[in-house]
Amino acid sequence: MSYYEIQGGRPLSGSLAIHGAKNSVLPILAACLLAPGQSVIHNCPDLSDVSVTLDILRLLGCRADREGDTVLIDASALGRSDIPEHLMREMRSSVIFLGALLARLGTAELSYPGGCELGPRPIDLHLSALRTLGAEIWEEQGALCCCRGQGGLSGREICLSIPSVGATENIMLAACGCPGLTTVVGAAREPEIIDLQNFLRSLGAEVKGAGTPVIAIQGGASLHPAEYRVMGDRIAAATYLCGAAAAGGEVELTGVLPDHLTAVLTCLEEAGCTIHTGPDRIALAGGPSLRSISPVRTAPYPGFPTDAQAVLMAALAGGEGATLFVENIFDSRYRHVDELRRMGADIQVAGRAAMVSGVGRLHGAAVRSPDLRGGAALVVAALGAEGTTQVSGLRHIRRGYQALDKNLRALGADIREVP
Ligand code: EPZ
Repeated sequence: MSYYEIQGGRPLSGSLAIHGAKNSVLPILAACLLAPGQSVIHNCPDLSDVSVTLDILRLLGCRADREGDTVLIDASALGRSDIPEHLMREMRSSVIFLGALLARLGTAELSYPGGCELGPRPIDLHLSALRTLGAEIWEEQGALCCCRGQGGLSGREICLSIPSVGATENIMLAACGCPGLTTVVGAAREPEIIDLQNFLRSLGAEVKGAGTPVIAIQGGASLHPAEYRVMGDRIAAATYLCGAAAAGGEVELTGVLPDHLTAVLTCLEEAGCTIHTGPDRIALAGGPSLRSISPVRTAPYPGFPTDAQAVLMAALAGGEGATLFVENIFDSRYRHVDELRRMGADIQVAGRAAMVSGVGRLHGAAVRSPDLRGGAALVVAALGAEGTTQVSGLRHIRRGYQALDKNLRALGADIREVP
């Protein structure tokens, strides 16, 4: 099994263009189903989750071709509405296809998206919302079957008890196929939701309110293909910033909006980093050593993003002083803690809380990625650690980071993939 071999202690320096956002491009690719014809998506990152999504589009009857960081999706010949289990298992977020297939074809069938490393991943909010719009949904031999109900689909008001990102996106996509006004109250406010709204508008859809708790979709219009550029990946940016904070040095990231990372930048400044920002760039200079900061409580946007919890923890574990983390979004998002402990980290976990006591500097070890962001956290820890670290389980990392090793090498890190 291949692994990264990392010699820690090399400060990072240089400039890096951040790739397109995984959590934005996945719903945007699903949204291409809504419009017959060829849509062109620029700044599409080369990630395994994106490859799975393109495979699903092809299986459904679309053409999906990649030319560098541009993908061309032609949904004219969309003919199938069933996503087989093996593809659903590869990527839980394939549930996002539900809304788009229902809107375009009036039917959808997919196997229950399995849980994943973050604990159970319920989709009750997705299903109850689609039923409110008029869908009939039932289970048949482990598959989820959906179709337009007797009365057809029509716009409704939907209140979300949790500002679920995926449920908000599924409703936006389904509502495009529902004549009338759909209002989502309690919607997720993440930047990726705004990116999806902007893409839907480019298709000719009437959508407004993304970024606020209330989103309105006037559905039923025929949509046309469009050309669109995906936003930069704020979580990948947070990862590189935490890497520079852990290893020391000065890096500049371009192609990412600082406003998308306010909560993370605030924590890094409190820990002793110097940060300068421009309209679409972030520069960070790491301090000699990171110090403890106020409690980090993950929350829906604009709160501290759960996806950046592991990488910030990894950076602070090698610093000074104690910092409390509270993971409020997922039930099981501390699976990187055991691996960080192998590197000398002092972290005490009790339920949703984790107390990280900086040990001055971690040491190298052989560690295994438990999930996507946990794997990235181990790389962050290794960059600042004394000695050599081997990080295996690269399939997790490849889901969300394009050329992580190559990019870090370009910034001066001593990292190579050992096949
Ligand atoms: C999206 O997942 C992201 N994934 C996640 O990023 C991110 O961590 C998460 O939003 C929160 O920001 C993609 O966009 C592909 P949720 P999603 O629905 O939509 C509960 C990464 O590392 N919930 O906002 O699945 C759920 O269990 C990934 O890039 C229900 O109870 O997250 C969780 O506790 C990991 N019922 C909370 O809501 C539902 O029907 C937030 O989940 C749906 C969700």
